[in-house]
Amino acid sequence: MNDFKPNIVIFRCNFCSPPGAERAMASKFKDSFRPIVIKTSCTGRIDPTFVFGAFVKGADGVLVAGCPPGDCHYVTGNYKAGRNVLLLKRVLSQLGIEPERLMGSWLPASEAPKIVSSVNEFADKVSALGPLTLN
Ligand code: FES
Repeated sequence: MNDFKPNIVIFRCNFCSPPGAERAMASKFKDSFRPIVIKTSCTGRIDPTFVFGAFVKGADGVLVAGCPPGDCHYVTGNYKAGRNVLLLKRVLSQLGIEPERLMGSWLPASEAPKIVSSVNEFADKVSALGPLTLN
């Protein structure tokens, strides 16, 4: 039996998780992974080094979750974050790390069930990859 529980770091935009909703969503996460939620003012503020830092400090997967296209409160932050996710996936691949360990998700707070299932599906994929080992 596989008892591996991946550490999943979720960088989450503040505007996609109003107070109260965060706890309700987290209670619906599967217990087959360890979520570490880090709230930001906007995904555009997530420096790529934060993502690398999360992997270096033990994350098996990193999810960047922000406002849908056109709904960023800072206009273009989510577009910037989306580009960074794509570029970071290429860099991870160059480093020999499965790019599937990083994902961007762009859903509004009103779509809490979709957010929960997106997080759970991502955790399942990371779990299937196994623990991240860095050389
Ligand atoms: Fe949510 Fe920019 S304010 S992604």
